[in-house]
Amino acid sequence: HQEAHGPDGGFQFEGVLGTWDYAQLQRGYQVYREVCSACHSLDFVAIRDLQQLGYTEDQVKAEAATITVAGIDPNTGEATTRPALPTDYFPAPYANDVMAAAANNNAIPPDLSLMAKAREGGPSYIYSLLTGYAPPSEELLEEFPDSAPGAGLHHNPYFANLNLAMAPPLTTDGQVTYAEGNPEPTIEQMSADVSAFLMWTAEPQLVKRRQTGWAVLGFLLFATILAWFAKKQVWAAVK
Ligand code: HEM
Repeated sequence: HQEAHGPDGGFQFEGVLGTWDYAQLQRGYQVYREVCSACHSLDFVAIRDLQQLGYTEDQVKAEAATITVAGIDPNTGEATTRPALPTDYFPAPYANDVMAAAANNNAIPPDLSLMAKAREGGPSYIYSLLTGYAPPSEELLEEFPDSAPGAGLHHNPYFANLNLAMAPPLTTDGQVTYAEGNPEPTIEQMSADVSAFLMWTAEPQLVKRRQTGWAVLGFLLFATILAWFAKKQVWAAVK
């Protein structure tokens, strides 16, 4: 399969001095919520974690109220649903794997929390997958007739076995409406944004971890220089 590539210009979090682009992470969350969450869970992310993306506590409370989670009726003890609280985790879209598979041509949409860590290429792979759907080329079909997608499958040169059960989820520019001041929601932009968001869900401490590393290196350099002068001082009298 084809090697993954990120968006033109890469992601702002890449490189040893990379940082999060919080506006992008917020857009990526919006894409997840409005598109991907119809099929994919985000098991390891609590709704209150969104505050780390720059939303206020009140915004997170309001957002939580728009999400429905499973609950228990306190009077009857029966299973029911209720609006989510910020402390709830993002709910799975299907009650169980059987329902998930039944709705998706026998494939279960995987949890996306750690997807950016699970696949070679990480966020670039997700970007390539979302933007890379294309019918198999003539040459490929000639050499490997079996590479044509079967019923209910979709060809994508970036997917490990070339055909997957996920139809292209982002198909039209403007599928998600971004707030004013954001870039145009082209397919590429929405794909880059949700890929960045999924990098954050997979490793929220990415930027802090690197920055801590630099501070550690700085301290070690300082300690080494100090040790050098201390050694000179201690041995100064010995000829
Ligand atoms: C698989 C991302 C929307 C159904 C996947 C995979 C990723 C992904 C990264 C894993 C590919 C792999 O195994 O390497 C996304 C994103 C979405 C989105 C970022 C939103 C922009 C959807 C929607 C549906 C869906 C809306 C259902 C209508 C599936 C299914 C699979 C899958 C069934 C398993 C495919 C297979 O293994 O054959 N998705 N997805 N996805 N997705 Fe999505």
